[in-house]
Amino acid sequence: MTVAASAGEKILILDFGSQYTQLIARRLRELEVYCEILPYHAKKEAIRAANPAGIILSGGPASVHEKGSPRPNDFVYEAGVPVLGICYGMQLLVELHGGKVVPSKKREYGHADLEIVADSPLFADLPKHLQVWMSHGDSAERLHNGFRVDARTGSAPYAAISDEGKRQYGIQFHPEVVHTPLGSKVLENFARRICRFEKRFSMAGLLESQVKAIREQVGDGKVVCALSGGVDSTVAATLISKAIGKNLYCVFVDTGLLRHGDRDRAEKVLGQELKLNLKVVDASKLFLGRLKGVSDPERKRKIIGKTFIDIFNAEAKRIKGVTFLAQGTLYPDVIESVSVHGPSVVIKSHHNVGGLPKKMNLRLVEPLRMLFKDEVRRLGKELGISAELLGLHPFPGPGLAIRVLGAVTPALLNTLRSADLIMREELKASGWYDKVWQSFVVILPSVRSVGVMGDGRTYENTVVVRSVDSRDGMTADWSRLPHDLLQKISSRIVSEVKGVNRVAYDISSKPPATIEWE
Ligand code: XMP
Repeated sequence: MTVAASAGEKILILDFGSQYTQLIARRLRELEVYCEILPYHAKKEAIRAANPAGIILSGGPASVHEKGSPRPNDFVYEAGVPVLGICYGMQLLVELHGGKVVPSKKREYGHADLEIVADSPLFADLPKHLQVWMSHGDSAERLHNGFRVDARTGSAPYAAISDEGKRQYGIQFHPEVVHTPLGSKVLENFARRICRFEKRFSMAGLLESQVKAIREQVGDGKVVCALSGGVDSTVAATLISKAIGKNLYCVFVDTGLLRHGDRDRAEKVLGQELKLNLKVVDASKLFLGRLKGVSDPERKRKIIGKTFIDIFNAEAKRIKGVTFLAQGTLYPDVIESVSVHGPSVVIKSHHNVGGLPKKMNLRLVEPLRMLFKDEVRRLGKELGISAELLGLHPFPGPGLAIRVLGAVTPALLNTLRSADLIMREELKASGWYDKVWQSFVVILPSVRSVGVMGDGRTYENTVVVRSVDSRDGMTADWSRLPHDLLQKISSRIVSEVKGVNRVAYDISSKPPATIEWE
C-alpha cells in the first residue's frame, strides 16, 4: 500500500520558550523541509491557517507542574496531523494522556547514550545507540493511554515515547543541537516518514515564487528602499529589482559614519554591477552636526535613527507616486519571542529602518521575512551577488558612531577609519576575515597613555581590536586570532595611524559583554 503525500504546506513549530526553538527550524530547513514558528499560545485559526503537515512542540524553561505553565491550544491534538514533543513538549504529551511527570532528582544536562528499544519510524535508518544531548529537570515516570517506550538512557527510562495510533511522539533529548550528531535524521524521519511531507524547499524555487509574489503585490507601483550596502538590504533590493526593474528606487545614505570604502563599494557594486536604480545622498554634515558634543550612547543612537528617517523621508517624497517601502527584515525579527518568565530589558535601541513605515504611510514589501541569515546568503548567490559581498561582516546602522566612545568628531572618525582598514586588510590577507563573525576597531578618546617612539615620549590614544565568533550575534566569543596576526595588526596601526600609540585586544564574550562597545 502506498500512503499519499501530505497536503500540508509546512511543519509548524510551537515555541514554548526554549533557547533552541530557532535551531529546530534551521535544521528542518537545511533538510529542505519548510517550517514556521508560532508562539505556544497560537489560536486555533492561526494553526489551521498554517495548514501544517505536522506539529512540533518545542522545549521550554517551564515545568508542567508549575501553575500557569504554558499549554497549547487543544486544536493541536485535534488537527489530525502528527505531533512531536521535544523535552517540555514531550512532558506535555505525557501529562495530556494521564501519565506522570516528576521533577528529576538530579537535573540531567549534557551528553547521554540513547538506546533504542522499539521499532519506531522516528528512529528508522538509525543505529541502536545514539549520542544525544539532554537538558531537563523533569522526567516522565509513568505512561498511560497507549503510549509506549521507544528509547531510554541511563538516567531517563522514558527518553523517547510514542503512540503510533494517535501519531504522537515524544523525545526527551534535543535533536536540533550539534551535540546530537544524528539529530537531523530524527527530525527528517518525523517530517518525511511520519508526516509524509514531500515538498522540497529550495532557494531556486523560492526565488521564482518571490519574484511572482512581488509582481502580484506591487503591480505597476513604485517601491522605495534604503540600501545600507550590507547583505540583507542588497539581497532584498536585487530580488525586488528582478521583479519590477526600475520601479524600485534605492537610496543609499552616506551618514559620514561609514568605514573607508563603504560608499565607493555601494556605488560600484550596487549601482554598476547589480544595476540597481540607486541614489547616493551625502548627509554627513547633518549627521555630524547633530552628533556634535553628544556622548551618551543611547542619545547618539536616537539622534542617528531620527536623522536617518528625516533624510530618507525627504528622498522618498521626491519620488512621485511611491506607495511601497522595501525592507530586508529577516525571520528572527518576525518571530514573536516567547517569554515564559516575564519581559526582558532593552539593552540597546537598535537603529534599523523599522520606524519608517508608520510615519510614511507606505505599504511594506519584505521578501526576506521568512528567511534566516544563512538562507539570505544562499538566495543572494542564486541572484548572482558576489561571494565577497555576501561574506561581509555585519555593520551596525549607527556605524562608526558607536565605535568612537563618547563624543564623535571628524578627526576621531578618520583615525578610526585608518585603524579599521588596516585590521580588515590583515584579516583578509591571512584568510581570517571569512572565519570570524565580525571584527572591527574601537577608539577610546578619553584613554591616553604614555609611549615611546624613537627617542621621544608620546601621549596618545588607545584603540581596541574586537573580533568575535558567533552564529547569530545573540551570543559570541572572542576569536582566537593567531598572535602573529595580532602582532602585525598592532604594529601596523601604531606605525601608520597618527595619534595612536597603543592597541588592545578585547577578550570578552557576550554575555556578559556585548559585541559593540556602545
Ligand atoms: P551587540 O552590540 O548588541 O550587537 O552585542 C549584536 C549585533 O548587532 C549589531 N548591532 C546593530 N545592528 N543596528 C544594526 O543594524 C544597530 O543599531 C546595531 N547595534 C548593534 C552588532 O554589530 C552585532 O553584529
